[in-house]
Parts: sequence; structure tokens; C-alpha cells
Amino acid sequence: MAFVYPDAIVSTAGHVDHGKTQTAYALSGVWVMKHSEEIKKAMTIKLGYAQVGIYDCGGEYYYTDGILANGRCPDGSEPKLVRRISLLDVPGHEVLVATMVSGAAVVDGAVLVVDASQPAPQPQTVEHFAVLDIIGVRRLVVAQNKIDLIPREKALENYQQIRKFLAGTWAEGAKVVPISALHRVNIDVLATYIAKSVPPREAELGRPPRFSVLRSFNVNPPGTPPEKLRGGVLGGTLLQGVLRVGDEIEVRPGLKVDKPKPGYQPIRTKVLSIEYSGVKVDEARPGGLVGVMTGLDPALAKADALAGAVAGAPGTLPPVWTAIEVEAKPIPRSAEGRGEPFKQGEVALVAVGPATVFGVVQAVKKDVVTLALKKAVCAEQGSKVVLIRQVKNRWIVTHYGVLKG
Ligand code: GTP
Ligand code: MG
Ligand code: MG
Repeated sequence: MAFVYPDAIVSTAGHVDHGKTQTAYALSGVWVMKHSEEIKKAMTIKLGYAQVGIYDCGGEYYYTDGILANGRCPDGSEPKLVRRISLLDVPGHEVLVATMVSGAAVVDGAVLVVDASQPAPQPQTVEHFAVLDIIGVRRLVVAQNKIDLIPREKALENYQQIRKFLAGTWAEGAKVVPISALHRVNIDVLATYIAKSVPPREAELGRPPRFSVLRSFNVNPPGTPPEKLRGGVLGGTLLQGVLRVGDEIEVRPGLKVDKPKPGYQPIRTKVLSIEYSGVKVDEARPGGLVGVMTGLDPALAKADALAGAVAGAPGTLPPVWTAIEVEAKPIPRSAEGRGEPFKQGEVALVAVGPATVFGVVQAVKKDVVTLALKKAVCAEQGSKVVLIRQVKNRWIVTHYGVLKG
């Protein structure tokens, strides 16, 4: 049977420890936290991803890979694959909001996970919701999680708090599904609403391939002999076109060089293999999260060194910027102190597409802020930009705008 491609990316969102990773696990059957630091600290640090098959078993609600017993429907019959989506799991901790923003840049919809045993909304529930809003994500399902911990009245009270939080926003009509991710309660209902709320992305297959890099890896165990070294792996999503094994690609911004003059040199390489969570295919298509093994020196790709880069057909990629001008608007519902004017010399985190880099404010004219970037970004003029500032020793999303030039 031909491989059914994931057709949309759905990310988790929400406050630290509310159960985002557990919900991703319940849906996909895959524990997406793999990094040793993450396991030690029991918190998501990097973007995790998994593919989720959504199946029809003939009942009112869909099943997923995470809840099918031995890959069969409850009556023992063969599940009918409806579609596949990619799940992106983001960190909830406040210091990692930049990672969440990078992930949000490529998603089609989100599952806002809310711990029902706490008053809603908690700070990162508000912040992640604001990020989804300004990036333009308009498909949302709320997972009211941990209902196993509270009595029914508490759950209803929390439900009213969530409704109140969403009232008057773009997500006013979002479904709120009570679940227990830990005990896999109501995951079928959650999956059904995700499948119905987030339509498949319209893939622009006719354009040159353009790939957003979210993660990059050196997949060689330490001590691998040179002749056995495998090339750098890029994890991310194809925004447009089709990327095939054997294709020549260019990665931008690329390598920082001093000669002939200081700047960035795109890196040329080849696509060696393509994988959707362990399934090897001949081509990648827009809509899902995919791993692309390249001929790149693995040292260049290790530890997310290429995260935020763009790869694609040589000569077709957007410009590379080392300084940008942004017309910066404060985010709606911003708390006190966030809306203060930018100051020359201030350091802010600048998120453009999947790239997040430090920038130093060079000039401020009315709403237009000019920032010199510590690391270049590759982006179209007019791209969305999110600015993350240090307010009272915390990194907070405060402004957004578009890349003017
Ligand atoms: P960060 O990545 O650190 O932001 O956390 P997270 O939102 O991914 O939360 P995670 O899934 O790691 O869960 C946090 C804790 O809540 C873990 O100890 C889970 O076992 C627990 N938890 C998650 N879902 C449930 C649930 O449905 N019921 C109960 N009782 N505990 C849950
Ligand atoms: Mg945690
Ligand atoms: Mg997590």
C-alpha cells in the first residue's frame, strides 16, 4: 500500500506540566521526549514530533495509533486509516517560549492542553495562546486534561474558566474536550475534534521545494569510523513543492565566512534519504514533519546547529538578513511593563519563521525597530516576526510585526 502522507501539523500548547507530552503520547503512542536532559528533568526542552494515524472503526469517534489495541479496532476488525497528521510537542516552561514560537511558525492547528485541577488560565496558557494568535494559527482544540484528579464540579468550574478565557477571541468556538492523557480517557473524542477542526493543508506541489529546518542532528554514535559516517539530518517540514531523494539542495543562511568579505555562504548538498518517523519514502511533501538525511558534514548539523535554516532548490531561497527592520506592535492582552518602548542597545530574541536569534536594538523610530542579528536568518520580506524581551528577568513575548527590510 502506498504511504499515506501526513497532511497537517498540529502542535501542543500550554502551561508547564499541564500534560502536553502526555497528550502527544496518548494520541500517537510515541514518547516524544528523547533527549537525556529532558528525561532527567521531566520537562520538554526541544521540539518533539511524532506521526499520528487517525482511524475509522465504524463508531462515532475516530481512533488513533495511541489508543488502538494491538493495531485493531475494539471489535477486532482492521482499522480504516482516515488520514495522518504530524504532532509537534513544544515546551511549556517560560524560559523556553522561543522554542514554542519557532514551532508555532509551521503549524496548522494546536491542542491547548489545560490542567483542569488548576485555576485557568495559567501564565503560559495565556502566552502560548497569544503566540498562536499573532502567528495566525486559527484552528484550536482545548484538551482539558487531568480530569482523573478532580471531582465533576471542579471540572465544570474549570470548563467555565476556559470558556471565559476564550470568549471574544478567534477561538471562541473551539471545542473543549475533557480528557485524562495519563489514563487515555476520551482520547478518541479529542482525536475526532482535531481531525475535524484542522483540515489538510493545501500542498503547493508545483513550486520549487522549500524546507523549514526545526531540528538538526548528527545521528552517528560517538566513535563511528569515517567511512561509516552518515550525513547530517534535517528535521522539519516542507513548506512547498516536492523534495526527492537525490535532489541537489542549498541550505541558507549557511556558513559564516570572513572572506572575500564577511557574510554567509549557502551550503550545497544532496538529499540522501527521507523518513517519516521511521518510514522511508522517495519524496517528502508539504504538510508533515519529516527527517531528511543529507550529504552534509554531520558536525555541521549536530545539536540543532541548523535549526531555523531554510533548505531548498539552489537559487530559489529567500534572502539572508543580518539586520532587520520590524514594525513592532505590542501583543494583545499584554501585561504591565511589556509595552515599554525598545531602547537602543537592548537585547531581544527575534523569531522569524522557525529561526530564533538574538538581536541588538540599533534604532527605534516610532514603531519601527532596527535590530542587528547575532546570527543571520533566511526569510522572505513580509515574514512574521515575534519579539521576545527580557522583562524583570523573564523572557516574555511582547511584540510582533512583519519583516520590513
Ligand atoms: P512541559 O513539557 O514541562 O511543559 O510539561 P508537559 O505539559 O509536557 O507535561 P507532561 O506531559 O510532561 O506531564 C507533566 C506531569 O503531569 C507528569 O508527571 C504526568 O505524568 C502528569 N500528567 C499528565 N497527564 C495527566 C493526566 O491526565 N492525569 C494525571 N493524573 N497526571 C497527568
Ligand atoms: Mg514537565
Ligand atoms: Mg512536555
